[in-house]
Amino acid sequence: MYSEAKPRILFTRQEIEATVSQLAVRISKDYQDKNPLLIGILKGSFMFMADLIRLLNFPLEVEFIRLSSYGRGRASAGKIKVVQGLRTPIKGRDVLVIEDIVDTGLTITFLLDYLQKKQPASLKLCALTDKPSRRKIPVTIDYLGFTVPDKFVVGYGLDWDEKFRNLPDICYLEDE
Ligand code: XMP
Ligand code: MG
Repeated sequence: MYSEAKPRILFTRQEIEATVSQLAVRISKDYQDKNPLLIGILKGSFMFMADLIRLLNFPLEVEFIRLSSYGRGRASAGKIKVVQGLRTPIKGRDVLVIEDIVDTGLTITFLLDYLQKKQPASLKLCALTDKPSRRKIPVTIDYLGFTVPDKFVVGYGLDWDEKFRNLPDICYLEDE
């Protein structure tokens, strides 16, 4: 579908830098003395996570979790599995999940339910982007970077078919 598509810029690297800084200020205020555990969802969040935590000047820990989705475009949409789980217990911890994009909301709802069962002290969500036009389940995003239109978003960690993660700007794909 997008094999011929050219990425077009939605948010520049400068806009991303400014937005990530603002998120870091808010997160710093809220988590300063909490030694939070930041859980990045692989793979899409890796670049955002790397930039964000370099702006957080207080004790914190980092974990990653990897999910598989049999979702996109299939009847079994929403059937999600944890492929690489946590290696750190989260009971009693202040947990902040770092996600690249909230689309239908199925993935993040599954993950938040999964984590909530492990009884963290608190559980919040930080998402780089939000595509509210496609939402199927309401999701509270505590810290949001950008709202994006109903287009396929790539770059700054996000991929189409594993490509374009390395783009420094947040882009969208449009067929020629
Ligand atoms: P849901 O629909 O469960 O989807 O909220 C969230 C997951 O689907 C992927 N996703 C995208 N990935 N550009 C991407 O690179 C997009 O526009 C896009 N929309 C959804 C993403 O992995 C996210 O975790
Ligand atoms: Mg993702």
